[in-house]
Amino acid sequence: MSFRYQQLAAELQQQIEQGQYGCGDRLPGVRELAKRRAVSVSTVVASYRRLEADGYLQASSRSGYFVKPRYQPPALSSKLQQPAGPVTVCSQQIALSLSKAAADPAYMRLGAAVPAAVYLPQHALQKALQQVIKTEPARLMRYEASRGAAELRREIARRMALQGAVVSQDDVIITNGCQEALMLSLKAVTQPGDVVVIESPAFYGLLQALEAAGLKALALPTDVQTGMAPDVLEHALEQWPVKACVLIANYSNPLGSLIPDDNKKRIVQLLAKRGIALIEDDTYGDLGFSEPRPGSCLALAPKQDIFYCSTFSKTLSPDLRLGWVIAPKHTAKLEYLKFISNISTAALPQLAVAKLLQSGQYERHLRQVRPQYETAVQRISSSIGRLFPSGTRVSQPQGGFVLWVELPQGTDAYLLAQQALAEKISIAPGTIFSPTAPAGKARYGNFIRLNCAVVQDARLERALQTLGQLCQQQLAEKNA
Ligand SMILES: Cc1ncc(COP(=O)(O)O)c(C=O)c1O
Repeated sequence: MSFRYQQLAAELQQQIEQGQYGCGDRLPGVRELAKRRAVSVSTVVASYRRLEADGYLQASSRSGYFVKPRYQPPALSSKLQQPAGPVTVCSQQIALSLSKAAADPAYMRLGAAVPAAVYLPQHALQKALQQVIKTEPARLMRYEASRGAAELRREIARRMALQGAVVSQDDVIITNGCQEALMLSLKAVTQPGDVVVIESPAFYGLLQALEAAGLKALALPTDVQTGMAPDVLEHALEQWPVKACVLIANYSNPLGSLIPDDNKKRIVQLLAKRGIALIEDDTYGDLGFSEPRPGSCLALAPKQDIFYCSTFSKTLSPDLRLGWVIAPKHTAKLEYLKFISNISTAALPQLAVAKLLQSGQYERHLRQVRPQYETAVQRISSSIGRLFPSGTRVSQPQGGFVLWVELPQGTDAYLLAQQALAEKISIAPGTIFSPTAPAGKARYGNFIRLNCAVVQDARLERALQTLGQLCQQQLAEKNA
């Protein structure tokens, strides 16, 4: 015969194992559960302590008991071979269908790396936009300056200084998102046919930018934890005539890798020695799970030929279409390229975001959202461990909100993405992170990337369950 607290612990354990309480969920308060189950407070405390001792729960001082990540799938590892050589980037139509699905609420949006509205400071943003409409009507009735609104450029320069990169606000060029920042940077230093070093797997928006500019990609195998390896880069630079290198040093997309500072410095030196420009995409730099914020290559080597690109798409809203590029050696050229591309970025989002930065609301929002992203990533990782076939392996990002998932050999991720779309679930198949991405044939044919910045509810659990079942079916059919 067992004690009451043991029975209660066993029931709660079952609920956790069945996914009714997911990783990161808070269990009911001690008093509340005692009342609901008609037991004493000390019985509930004893059962929670038992579950804590068994590794199911962790106590957080004053805020209660939370489910620990328990079903962690095995971590991904990387084999860093040398690249085969530069390739022409092929068109990737499926990326467009992902983007369409990302805008359609009927889909479970695990494909595009777009945060659900619950992760964004909707009210603060709405208020700031309304204030600008009220107070600056004349400003909104003309073209804004091509380099961007002075108010926003000043705030960005201030923030950059706080993270160790002292830049002049005159060198900040505001763009329509980071995508435009990347495109302008590539245009500033390359001609069609040039070779550009990128990470492998690579963010597909970058691959599209390379395709649009007629550039060849030299994709370097990238470590899932520490990103681009200086030795692999050095070897590649000795063999091919490289014009530029694009990397995501902090919490890359899709790997989530973080390049250690020493490696960042070595990479910058290797490129500087050969006069090769570095285009640094710091889209996720503000979204680390721990302090302090990692430095950028620009902060570590302010005198080198670096284009620093970033965005407010993942922190405030992708619909603002607000990013920026800083490359002190190329400011005049970038300003001209921006002017001939689309004249300027709209003043309304610029002035509203300047207000959020100035008032401290942006920082406050970051403090709030970073742990939320961490919990979401851990929860989905843990659900994958429970719901996907054995042999599935998952990245362990320290920031951002995407997971890179290796499915067991024999699974076709491209087919899975099509099957999932039929179930109203969008996922990103691994092939689109490879420069040669015709369906099914390219690298990463058994990988997927999942966006974790989605509402953490029963619908998500069902979608992950469906994905796991589709993988199982594929494997069963293959082995039949
Ligand atoms: C690494 C990376 N760079 C750039 C972008 C494009 O950002 P934006 O929406 O600001 O153009 C994204 C969006 O997914 C991204 O993940």
